[in-house]
Amino acid sequence: MSYIRPNIDQMHGYVPGEQPQVPGLIKLNTNENPYPPAPAVLAAIRSAVDGRLRLYPDPTASGLRQKLAARYGFAADQFIAGNGCDDILNLCVRAFCGEGDRLAYCQPSYSLYPVLAEIQGAKTVAIPLDEDFQIGKLPKLGDVRLALITQPNAPSGVFLRKPDVQRLIEAVNGVVVIDEAYVDFAGENCLDFVREYDNVIVARTLSKAVSFAGMRVGWAVGPIALIAALHKVRDSYNVNRLSQVGAEAALDNWAYYEANVRQVCGTRDRVTAALVKRGFVVLPSQTNFIFAKPPAPVTAKRWFDGLRERKVLVRWWDAARIRDFARVSIGTDEEMNSFLEATYETLR
Ligand SMILES: Cc1ncc(COP(=O)(O)O)c(C=O)c1O
Repeated sequence: MSYIRPNIDQMHGYVPGEQPQVPGLIKLNTNENPYPPAPAVLAAIRSAVDGRLRLYPDPTASGLRQKLAARYGFAADQFIAGNGCDDILNLCVRAFCGEGDRLAYCQPSYSLYPVLAEIQGAKTVAIPLDEDFQIGKLPKLGDVRLALITQPNAPSGVFLRKPDVQRLIEAVNGVVVIDEAYVDFAGENCLDFVREYDNVIVARTLSKAVSFAGMRVGWAVGPIALIAALHKVRDSYNVNRLSQVGAEAALDNWAYYEANVRQVCGTRDRVTAALVKRGFVVLPSQTNFIFAKPPAPVTAKRWFDGLRERKVLVRWWDAARIRDFARVSIGTDEEMNSFLEATYETLR
């Protein structure tokens, strides 16, 4: 007899992007922000490193929730903070989708979703995206307890048309969580659906636009009843003291991050144009990464391997629908110039 639950015994577990410690490596594989946190944010964290670390943090991150409420125009009780957006997604699965229940997500999208479903023992329902990586014809979704939608989607980088997202919300009787991890790099968002529907939650992260991946802060906003359910399920102190201090300071220094986002988007558009000129297919990205297909006869795998040999790390999946593409995070202009040079060499 195994001590382990059968579904955990049989599953593979989520595989995050590598974090290799190779000197000189250009790391474009996990969509981190290439720019550091704002100096005032680092100063705030440093000044909180003192004897108060012996105390537990605020269990509900109330200071952060109040700042989020003021920025986004909801009540503080409509927010929950988490140890990254992944924590929030995990809480949603725990709270809204029981063993044997149906959990839907777009295919392709964030590969953590089926793993969370597997841990919970939930049944998955794929919503296949069309050839433009948009939501097309929907499968039957009425009895779905939870739908997880990435907006803009990953790894495609494509912003899903809002009327299609709305159609999906209306087809689902359970909860719809819109994972807006990359939305700060997009021109639109889905927060208005939180105002319109009693079953919609939007989840976000400070890991991407706010250069805080190492500090692990995410949050969600939604109807009070649903957010209250997530609070019941979470770890009592799921956002540590320094992360709360840093996240609050980040919200007070928003203009710094907006400037970084503009810079990243400018670099993204320049790199996209350079690749298109060399015959790549690059999907229209509203994120801090691009999803690109090299010109034949070069395969995405060969491009990925060629970049790796030149100490440039991007992400490639040997999976249906996406194996012809590689995903490239947007780094600094200097990093992206090296990436382009390495790319041109692999095409020769
Ligand atoms: C779609 C999506 N959602 C959530 C996350 C996780 O964000 P966090 O670092 O806040 O856990 C990621 C990270 O890459 C992501 O791609």
